[in-house]
Amino acid sequence: MKKIVIIAGLVFGLVVLVGAAYDYLLEMGDKTPQSSECKKCHATIYEEWSKNFHAKAWVNDQFKNASNTYSKKECLACHTAQQLAAEKDLAIRPVYKEEGVNCTTCHLRNNMIYGPYKLVAKHKAEQDVSMLQSAFCSVCHMPTYQEWQGGDAQKQCQDCHMPRVERKLVQAFPISSLVPKRMVGQHLQMYEGVFQGAASITGQKGTGTVTISLTNMGAGHNMPTGKYGDYRLVLQTTALSSGGKEVLSKEEVFSSQKGNGVPFKKTVKYEYPIQPGVGKDYKVKATLVYQRAGRPDVAVASWNAE
Ligand code: HEC
Ligand code: HEC
Ligand code: HEC
Ligand code: HEC
Ligand code: HEC
Repeated sequence: MKKIVIIAGLVFGLVVLVGAAYDYLLEMGDKTPQSSECKKCHATIYEEWSKNFHAKAWVNDQFKNASNTYSKKECLACHTAQQLAAEKDLAIRPVYKEEGVNCTTCHLRNNMIYGPYKLVAKHKAEQDVSMLQSAFCSVCHMPTYQEWQGGDAQKQCQDCHMPRVERKLVQAFPISSLVPKRMVGQHLQMYEGVFQGAASITGQKGTGTVTISLTNMGAGHNMPTGKYGDYRLVLQTTALSSGGKEVLSKEEVFSSQKGNGVPFKKTVKYEYPIQPGVGKDYKVKATLVYQRAGRPDVAVASWNAE
């Protein structure tokens, strides 16, 4: 009996000790851990995060310039938040500001690491099922969240921007050999696949006019969305006569700054005149290009007719 008590006591003590060894991951303020601490175990998620713009929210030139080199106080908290709170209560993280929206911004709250599951981690962790819902992102993305609410998208922000794959949560040996594979949300946000099927262009070639229709098929919000950034989709239509002469060149710009994004599942239609005398003897091409300052263009959709 005594033996059992002693062994139980030892085991309990060990569990507490091991748990406490990682309590530095729960510190906040000046002692908030850097994301490289999380990388020691969650290497794959770290790699994904470090490539997306949450990781650049503080250092990217667009923000640096627009915030007047960090002198506009009202701009700073969302771009390097200590922890999630109501928008008016967001506070700046005093350390590692250059990491922008980092692991601790989204996962560490009141000295506890929150995750969507209920796992036994090396560190203390508690479950927060709201992490799987769009409302979780709304703290900083309220205008987009409201568009999403109005659009009946069926999918949450995470379903499109953090698509799930089966893999381990931890890559570091030996812990990696003790944890099973799970369905894990990739920390991608923007990636090539998100544009697949996001928009469609159709058209109708007539005599004297060509009609182009653009539909937002797969962005669960206006296309583009956003309040602070300058995100643009440009619809370019050109037509060439059989002799190779340009008989039409038009451009429509949908921009987050102008607030004229195409709502989810909505279609916009343009009818352009073709120079007289060309008849139906022309080739037409329409393309949709995604543009953001300081980043390469992305071709999203196109339509052609001979
Ligand atoms: C603490 C505030 C905050 C939270 C919470 C947050 N975001 Fe963001 N998000 C930002 C900021 C700031 C940017 C702009 C980053 C930049 O481009 O500099 C951004 C940018 C983005 C972008 C555009 C990325 C790009 O490449 O241009 C996507 C997509 C996005 N967030 C999705 C999400 C999703 C999905 C969630 C919820 C799981 C979420 N965000 C939660 C602050 C936040
Ligand atoms: C913009 C907010 C945001 C940032 C930044 C962020 N996460 Fe997450 N994280 C989430 C959300 C939301 C989920 C739940 C996604 C899901 O399971 O579909 C999640 C899930 C996880 C999980 C549980 C596995 C899973 O996918 O469900 C781990 C572990 C994790 N994140 C670690 C990290 C680490 C490490 C970093 C920094 C390198 C980080 N996260 C940065 C929002 C964020
Ligand atoms: C010493 C290794 C280690 C370090 C360092 C570490 N974690 Fe973990 N974490 C784990 C393990 C182990 C799990 C559970 C994995 C499993 O069972 O699949 C886990 C699980 C999680 C979960 C999911 C919890 C749940 O129940 O949904 C989140 C979120 C998370 N970690 C975030 C972080 C963040 C943020 C950091 C950095 C501040 C961090 N971790 C640092 C080992 C670590
Ligand atoms: C059905 C899939 C889907 C859902 C749901 C979704 N998005 Fe998107 N998101 C996209 C696509 C596709 C793009 C790129 C095209 C576009 O809108 O410009 C995008 C782009 C973005 C951008 C970059 C600005 C822009 O328009 O290019 C942000 C920020 C963003 N999403 C945030 C969110 C947030 C926050 C939520 C949840 C409230 C959400 N998204 C829900 C598919 C989705
Ligand atoms: C409520 C949180 C919040 C506040 C406050 C905020 N931002 Fe942002 N910022 C975001 C989010 C979320 C995004 C990405 C989507 C969007 O534009 O809505 C973003 C994106 C940006 C971008 C685009 C970055 C890129 O990669 O192109 C710039 C520039 C920017 N913000 C500047 C500012 C400035 C300047 C202010 C102050 C006037 C400010 N932000 C205040 C949340 C915020």
